[in-house]
Amino acid sequence: MDAAGVIDEVGPDVTGWSVGDEVMAIALPLSTHGGAYVQELVAPVGSFTRVPRGTSLLAASTVPMNGLTALQILSLAGLSRGDTLAVTGAAGLLGNYVVQLAVAAGLTVIADAAPADEALVRSLGPAHIVPRGDGFAAAVRELVPGGVDALADAAVQRSVVVDAVRDGGVFLDVRGWSGDGSRGIRFEQVAVFSEYRSFDKLEQLRHAVESGTLTPRVAEVLPASRAAEAHERLEAGGTRGRFVLTW
Ligand SMILES: NC(=O)c1ccc[n+]([C@@H]2O[C@H](COP(=O)([O-])OP(=O)(O)OC[C@H]3O[C@@H](n4cnc5c(N)ncnc54)[C@H](OP(=O)(O)O)[C@@H]3O)[C@@H](O)[C@H]2O)c1
Repeated sequence: MDAAGVIDEVGPDVTGWSVGDEVMAIALPLSTHGGAYVQELVAPVGSFTRVPRGTSLLAASTVPMNGLTALQILSLAGLSRGDTLAVTGAAGLLGNYVVQLAVAAGLTVIADAAPADEALVRSLGPAHIVPRGDGFAAAVRELVPGGVDALADAAVQRSVVVDAVRDGGVFLDVRGWSGDGSRGIRFEQVAVFSEYRSFDKLEQLRHAVESGTLTPRVAEVLPASRAAEAHERLEAGGTRGRFVLTW
C-alpha cells in the first residue's frame, strides 16, 4: 500500500507537480487500482507528496501507509499532552511510528519490547518499556495502576492486553475487532483506506521525517522478482522495518 518513485507524467488538470519530482504515495490494493506492486503507479493528487528532504526513495517508501495509520490512531485516541498511551508491537514498523509520533505529541508512552528489541524500542523515546507478551497488561498496571488512557494494539493481542486500558479509555484495533464492550472502553477500528487522500497528513509525515521525529526503517531491499520470498520472511516474524521491493 505504499510506494515512492519519480513522476514521469502529469495529468492535464494537475498543477504544482512536475516530471522528475520524487514523491512518496499511498496506493489502494482494491478494485482496478491494484496497489503499489507495480512499476508504474497512477496516483491521484492528495495521495502523494514529496519525499522528505535528505531521504532516499527506498526509505521514503516505508512512510505513507504505516505513517498515515499511526496518525489515524492518534487522532482516534483523542488524547492530550501528558495522557498515557500504551503500544503493543512497538518493535514493528507501525508500532515504531506510533511511539515516535505519540512522544512528539507529548504523550506518556509505554511500549512493549522483547529483550532483543529493547535498544531499538528505547531509541524511539517512550517513557517506559515493559516486556512484550501475555504479562503486558499487568506490567502496564504496575506503572499506571488505574490503567492507561489508550492502547494502540499493533501486535493484535486484543483480550490478552485490554486490561491495560482504564475504565472509559480507548482501545485501538488494527484488524477490525469491535471489542468486548467492557468497562465503558471505546473500541476503535483503525482503517488506513480512509486516508487515501489525506495530503495534509502526508505533509505532516514528511515534516516529521525531516525534523528527525520519525525514522523510516528499511529491513531489506529486494527486487520485485523476490516478492514471494519477502512475504514468506515477513510471515515468519522477526522483521524489523519494512521490506522494500524495487522495479
Ligand atoms: N487497519 C489498518 O488500516 C492497518 C494499517 C497498517 C497496519 N495494520 C496492521 O497492524 C499490524 C502491525 O503492522 P506492522 O507493519 O507494524 O507489522 P510488523 O512490522 O510485523 O509488527 C508487528 C509487531 O508485533 C510483534 N508481535 C507479534 N505477535 C506478538 C505478540 N503475541 N506479542 C507481542 N508482540 C507481538 C511482532 O514481533 P515478531 O516480528 O517478533 O513476531 C512485530 O514486532 C499488522 O497486523 C497490520 O496488518 C493495520
